[in-house]
Amino acid sequence: MWLQNIFLWFWAICCIPVTGFEWKKMKTEISKAVSGYAPCSPDNCSCHLSVLQQDLRPFKGGISEAIMASTIKRGVGTHYQIIGHKLYRETNCMFPARCSGVEHFILEVINKLPDIELVINVRDYPQVPNWSQQILPVFSFSKTSDYHDIMYPAWTFWEGGPAVWPIYPTGLGRWDLMMDDLKKSAAEWPWKKKVSKGFFRGSRTSPERDPLILLSREDPELVDAEYTKNQAWKSERDTLGKPPAKEIPLVDHCKYKYLFNFRGVAASFRFKHLFLCGSLVFHVGDEWQEFFYPQLKPWVHYVPVKQDLSDVRELLQFVKENDDIAKEIAARGREFILTHLQMQDVSCYWQRLLTDFSDLLTYNPKRNSSYKEIIHRPSKTELLNPAEVMCPGQRGQQPCSGPGATRSTGRGSSSTPGPPAFCFLLPRIHAAEVAAAQSPQMLSS
Ligand SMILES: *[C@@H]1O[C@H](CO)[C@@H](O)[C@H](O)[C@H]1NC(C)=O
Ligand SMILES: *[C@@H]1O[C@H](CO)[C@@H](O)[C@H](O)[C@H]1NC(C)=O
Ligand SMILES: *[C@@H]1O[C@H](CO)[C@@H](O)[C@H](O)[C@H]1NC(C)=O
Repeated sequence: MWLQNIFLWFWAICCIPVTGFEWKKMKTEISKAVSGYAPCSPDNCSCHLSVLQQDLRPFKGGISEAIMASTIKRGVGTHYQIIGHKLYRETNCMFPARCSGVEHFILEVINKLPDIELVINVRDYPQVPNWSQQILPVFSFSKTSDYHDIMYPAWTFWEGGPAVWPIYPTGLGRWDLMMDDLKKSAAEWPWKKKVSKGFFRGSRTSPERDPLILLSREDPELVDAEYTKNQAWKSERDTLGKPPAKEIPLVDHCKYKYLFNFRGVAASFRFKHLFLCGSLVFHVGDEWQEFFYPQLKPWVHYVPVKQDLSDVRELLQFVKENDDIAKEIAARGREFILTHLQMQDVSCYWQRLLTDFSDLLTYNPKRNSSYKEIIHRPSKTELLNPAEVMCPGQRGQQPCSGPGATRSTGRGSSSTPGPPAFCFLLPRIHAAEVAAAQSPQMLSS
């Protein structure tokens, strides 16, 4: 007995300090974060409401017709009008697939919306720095605290996301389908089966990612991180002196326990996907936000990593040695996304955002008669098998005449010819075909 005690005592002296002492600070920080966290209600996207309230605060004095006119004139986004539950848009949109992804959500809730007009920026970068003379109301999908853009849920929840050849050739989209696929993959890769390694595949949209790639080359047992090509790739210099790695679909990330998320040009679309693997998300930097980021909390839902990655080795060591803690954080992160970031939460946020925004307009918007109405249409991705596509106008429910049919949006900028038919389709779709209707665009993740 005493021998055992001595042994335990000896063990405590010699071995606990090495890990136990070092990790104590981190463990305390985690307990504090977790005990201070109150999960929010899943009803009516209420979890995220504080974000739109904060974004709209600079405009609480009201938005006059003159302010709106100068916002439109600045040309930093696409001008939309909602009049009598119909959606109108100026002809130009810099990225048609992105506008289309935005329009999908607005049209979903349009019957509940009052008359409004707004300017939606579909570029990656926000447009209203807090040092600008006049703060104009511009909607953008992502920003840092230096900007006063009003955040909206990104187009990529539906379509128009970054094209990644060959795995997402026409762009990342259809969050609902991606969710299903990731859930399946997560089931195939339960925590116990996952490889205890950090993992990252992506292009070098920012050199901020370099330290992780270098760490991987130095210590491949700790982390597997490589650069892939993007459209800007010219030589091995763009992949840090090595040949580009193969693209890995997001579902195949689930094999690894620790998944890295970096900013891209702005926030990265991959963030929300990584949680669904049931893996632990390592989120690098905290500057770039999307509307749902503020409710995701460091240590509660993910591991916060310093932007310069100076702490990454230590953090990986910590989670490897504290597997139960890592597993819990991963589970909470996944649960958050499943509870608060369903398609209905996205639609709900759009509705609430536009409704609250309309309260700020001090005038009644009048329709610009040169604008075309935007009408709901199924996306091209849904048209896999023309035989399954029915045209309601034709009583016999005949198949429509192929993918061109989908492009009849009534939209001025639509360049694809096609008969003016609106098609319904039977729900036979798969995320392998998750894709936007239009051509690939620049990568932002
Ligand atoms: C919130 O959702 C509930 C149903 O979950 C509904 O009964 C209620 O009217 C909603 N409240 C608001 C303010 O929309
Ligand atoms: C802009 O925002 C940043 C970050 O919140 C802040 O540090 C800075 O003082 C702000 N600048 C102005 C001019 O308000
Ligand atoms: C309507 O839109 C056109 C084209 O964008 C623009 O030239 C015109 O000034 C707008 N009219 C009004 C009344 O705003």
